[in-house]
Amino acid sequence: MAEAILEVRDLVKHYPLTRGILFKKHVGAVKAVDGVDVELFAGETLGIVGESGCGKSTLAKMLVHLERPTAGTIRYKGEDITTLSGRALKAVRRNIQMVFQDPYTSLNPRMTVGDIIGEPYEIHPEVAPKGSRRQKVQELLDVVGLNPEYINRYPHQFSGGQRQRIGIARGLALRPEVIVADEPVSALDVSVQAQVINLLDKLQSEFSLSYVFIAHDLSIVRHISDRVGVMYLGRIVEIGRDAEIYDHPTHPYTQALLSAVPVPDPQAREHRERIILTGDVPSPTNIPSGCRFRTRCWKAQERCAREVPLLAVPPHLESVEGPARHPSACHFAEEKHVVPNGPAAGDGGTGGTKSL
Ligand SMILES: Nc1ncnc2c1ncn2[C@@H]1O[C@H](COP(=O)(O)OP(=O)(O)OP(=O)(O)O)[C@@H](O)[C@H]1O
Ligand code: SF4
Ligand SMILES: [Mg+2]
Repeated sequence: MAEAILEVRDLVKHYPLTRGILFKKHVGAVKAVDGVDVELFAGETLGIVGESGCGKSTLAKMLVHLERPTAGTIRYKGEDITTLSGRALKAVRRNIQMVFQDPYTSLNPRMTVGDIIGEPYEIHPEVAPKGSRRQKVQELLDVVGLNPEYINRYPHQFSGGQRQRIGIARGLALRPEVIVADEPVSALDVSVQAQVINLLDKLQSEFSLSYVFIAHDLSIVRHISDRVGVMYLGRIVEIGRDAEIYDHPTHPYTQALLSAVPVPDPQAREHRERIILTGDVPSPTNIPSGCRFRTRCWKAQERCAREVPLLAVPPHLESVEGPARHPSACHFAEEKHVVPNGPAAGDGGTGGTKSL
């Protein structure tokens, strides 16, 4: 087993809800992230998927120290970095960088591309002394497939896909080991999405990077991920290698998400069962007791309201040999083939994906 480069234990981020203007009174909390356990292994891509508001960005921000956790721990190569500050934090942050979702708002329109990409060197001059910065930035432009002569241009002179390449170049400037990419292609046209994903794939082997790749669309994550974690209301509810999650899901929520993924083959599409979830996602200020998915789950029973299902291999699947045996936070986890194994689905199952 590869080394865990990041190890997250029981990570929590609660935003306090207050009432009153002068005398602020605590009236509850938005439980954006509510107990996440996950590892990122060296050299892998961990996909994180889930609906809007389930806590993906909050998790990402805690991993790169843009948000301080309410509770829990984050370890980087075995060292607890959760509450680091000052120089020690600065040293670790260099190794864990973030690429943001929206290439239109995440780049300062008044700065040249050279200044944007070179900005991290202001904080870490030891990586690139002043005299060498222009050359370093031009190398980075080349690495992400942009003309190094564009160094003096402004963000508005680039297309969406090119801007995301600029964002990736900035993320690479300090030569990090981990990149947390929060929906890096969601704002891009479908045709451009594939190019940016291919670029990330190429950079991963070139720079020995480990990725946390966040998306709300299961089909995007599949092409780049070694493992996938599915989030619901602040927790990971199922996690496994990509074939385990896509071809052998055992959690009802994953099964519902998969049943909504577009299937290219019309024949396979006809045989696919659509699982329509009833009701809205509950508010993160008021999470259901027991299993947090129970208000929308077609399999819910009385036990689901009483007992919190833990993210582990379910006891009744412990003895099963094969891909259904992976962590799933459901008392009644069982395999269900949602996407039929037609030629298209089968090809998608292994073609273009990687294994650890
Ligand atoms: N600073 C904040 N203060 C209060 N609530 C917040 C704050 N940031 C996020 N939230 C809330 O926490 C929950 C999780 O938000 P988050 O942005 O992490 O979700 P997400 O999964 O990234 O969603 P999306 O797919 O829309 O980007 C949401 O209910 C959001 O409104
Ligand atoms: S524990 Fe119960 S409510 Fe939760 S996903 Fe499983 S069957 Fe559904
Ligand atoms: Mg988000």
